[in-house]
Amino acid sequence: MKVFLVLGTRPQIIKSSLLISLINGDSELDFKVIHTGQHHDYAMSQAFFEELGLPSPAANLGVGSGSHAYQTATMMTRLEHVLLDDPPDIVLVPGDTNSALAAALVAAKMNIPMAHIEAGARSYDMRMPEEVNRRLVDHCSSLLFTPTDRCTRNLIGEGIGKAQIHQVGDTMYDVLLHQLPKVEASDVVEKLGLTSKKYALLTAHRAENTDNLDNLRIIMAAAETLSLKIVFPVHPRTRRCLKSVDCEHRSNMQMIEPVGLTESLRLVRDAAVVLTDSGGMQKEAFWLGTPCVTLRETTEWPETIELKSNSLAGSNLKKIVKSVGDALRDGAPKLIVNPFGDGAASERILEVLKGEDPNSR
Ligand code: UD1
Repeated sequence: MKVFLVLGTRPQIIKSSLLISLINGDSELDFKVIHTGQHHDYAMSQAFFEELGLPSPAANLGVGSGSHAYQTATMMTRLEHVLLDDPPDIVLVPGDTNSALAAALVAAKMNIPMAHIEAGARSYDMRMPEEVNRRLVDHCSSLLFTPTDRCTRNLIGEGIGKAQIHQVGDTMYDVLLHQLPKVEASDVVEKLGLTSKKYALLTAHRAENTDNLDNLRIIMAAAETLSLKIVFPVHPRTRRCLKSVDCEHRSNMQMIEPVGLTESLRLVRDAAVVLTDSGGMQKEAFWLGTPCVTLRETTEWPETIELKSNSLAGSNLKKIVKSVGDALRDGAPKLIVNPFGDGAASERILEVLKGEDPNSR
């Protein structure tokens, strides 16, 4: 069986990494990774292939930056050529980015079976490009790999047949467990001159907080009021926006280049609180026992809110300051119930692809 996995962004590389290694090591499968080129900076893409020991992509579509329509349409045209030249039996698509949408539409139009990894997540907020993408990808998919009960229920509620859905768990949790020894050994906290549990980790890159400069200004102003040191790995998109809102230098803030996965997980683990608009980091904070304040109005991971590890503060200064105060006072609960599975999602996906029964383990 010929399997192609299409990715293009940092979070997609991370959440597919263990699955890529498993499929690549399986002699029964003929496997290729296709990179759309959506993320093109070394620190956003190649660095992760190297850190995670992944095989180089068989093709890079080189799409680069641009509007959503430009990015999606260009990836579609270029991917169609690749799939016409060398048709796979199935296309795997992780996550909710424009790269995921482009791959799903091309596969569906070419009648190539498509499997969505991280299916069924919903924020019910169609202003977010990721929500548009994940809904469309799910409805183009022939196989849907869900991370949680809620994701499975969401899909059934939208009329997707139970036979197409495999609740396998969250591949990001697999990757986190796999990385733990390296996270333990990382010295990034000391190297940055920080003290464990005495700093906040901030990340912000989502369109709602960067395209709207007022929101970014409020987030920066809220961060400045905190009596904690803040470490802020800055996404390339945010770096440009920070220049135009003139808040590149804050006294309590250490702005750094994007970091690798091990360093990022260590910074999450040792932070007193995480402030983020990332989807993945909300879950990583939950798994690593660090309270999280999400700089968005909605989340596709309400499980983390229900289990009292996360709260939504949007870009509202008062809410951010209050939520951080609450998080510092209450901390995060111990990880007793994990709705995101047992760390074997990638293995189950491989079993389903090979026609084996993932429930027989
Ligand atoms: C994308 C995803 C988002 C995910 C994020 C992780 C979509 C709609 N969004 O957002 O869900 O959380 O990746 O990072 O797909 N840029 C660079 N170098 C890079 C990558 C981006 O300079 O390597 C700049 C470009 O100028 C680009 C801007 O950042 O215009 C935005 O990049 P883009 O890939 O469109 O989306 P992200 O914000 O990274």
